[in-house]
Formats: sequence, C-alpha cells, structure tokens
Amino acid sequence: MPYKNIPDQYSLIAKLLHWLIALLIIALSGIGWWMVGLSYYDPWYHDSLNWHKSLGIIVLLMVGFKVIWSFVDKAPEPQATLNAFERIASSLVHSILRLAMMIIPITGYLVSTSEDAAIEVFDWFSFPVLLQINERARDIAIDIHYYFAYATLALVVLHAAAALKHQFIDHKGTLKRML
Ligand code: HEM
Repeated sequence: MPYKNIPDQYSLIAKLLHWLIALLIIALSGIGWWMVGLSYYDPWYHDSLNWHKSLGIIVLLMVGFKVIWSFVDKAPEPQATLNAFERIASSLVHSILRLAMMIIPITGYLVSTSEDAAIEVFDWFSFPVLLQINERARDIAIDIHYYFAYATLALVVLHAAAALKHQFIDHKGTLKRML
C-alpha cells in the first residue's frame, strides 16, 4: 500500500484518516442525538456528554492533522472517467464535507468551553480553553452545531451512495481508490 497518494490510489494515511473520521462523525451524530434526549436522572446523562466531547476532540485533532497532511500529500486528481456534472457535484460535496468536519467540532468545543472549563478527554489529557464566547454567541454555536451535524449526515449518505454507484453500477473503480 503506498505511503503517498498516487494517481488512482489514496495513501495508507489518507485512507486511515478518511475511514476513522467518517466512523467517528457517524458515531458522534448518534451519541449526540441520544444524549440530548436523556433526562438529568439518567445514569448516562453525564457520561454520554463526556464521551461525546472526548471523541469530538479526537475528531478535531484528526481533522487538524488531515488539513496539515493535505499540504504534504496532495489528493489524487478526480477520475478522468467522471463526466462534467459528476466532477462539479463531487467537488462541491467534498468541499462542504471538509468544511463541516471543522465547523461541527469547533462549535461543539466553543459551546463546551463557554463556561470556562477545559475538556477532559477520557482522563487522558485536558484540552484547554482557547477562546471563551458569551451566552449569545453560545446560542448561535449550538444552532450551527445542530444544523451542520444533521445536514452532514444527509450529505454523508449522498456521498456514500455516489461512491457505491460509481463503483458497482458504472464500474469506475471510485471506491477502490479509498479501500
Ligand atoms: C464531528 C464531530 C461532532 C458531531 C458529528 C457532533 C454531533 C452532535 C449532535 C448530533 C448533537 C445533538 C444535537 C441535538 O439534537 O440537539 C450534538 C450535541 C452536542 N455536542 Fe456535538 N458533535 C461533534 C463534536 C463535538 C465536540 C468536539 C464537542 C465539544 C468538545 C461537542 C459538544 C456537544 C455539546 C455540548 C452538545 C449539546 C448541545 C446542546 O446543549 O444542545 N460536540 N453534537
């Protein structure tokens, strides 16, 4: 397996980042949806939020590394077999997904640190308060976190459906580049 991206194959690092971040975003959406429905007296009330915040900070760090890594190792060009519509649509969806994977954890972080408490990531380390926002900005951050999280899930489904179609119906080997 290549350690750097080559024309029709992503590198090992690019693949690991892609699948781990994808898995964590799906898991975090599920945990987020579940935890906000728990009552204060539920035994999972505090732990679910701690898990959500810890996993969320791990995603944030991975996305930060992914951004740096993308300058070191450029993604392969879009496949030549894609038509103009597919090229534009996929580049648009990929750009929105990249933006969302930064905006969702950053807003979650800002909501959590608005009360001036550092985030304890699984008792492994403490992620500091870098910026403390006021109550009005916190309400806006909650809304952005909420809308982006659920809209991104819908986009992930579209993205996966397109990859499966290109692989199994059009036989363009799109998914194989990332496996
Ligand atoms: C890609 C990463 C993340 C995803 C997909 C995600 C997803 C979600 C979802 C779906 C909810 C439930 C929204 C609702 O139904 O009201 C939620 C709530 C929440 N998340 Fe995240 N989250 C992520 C990262 C983070 C991070 C990094 C933190 C903090 C360190 C965080 C803190 C919170 C908090 C505090 C809430 C409750 C907000 C409220 O008071 O309503 N999240 N998240």
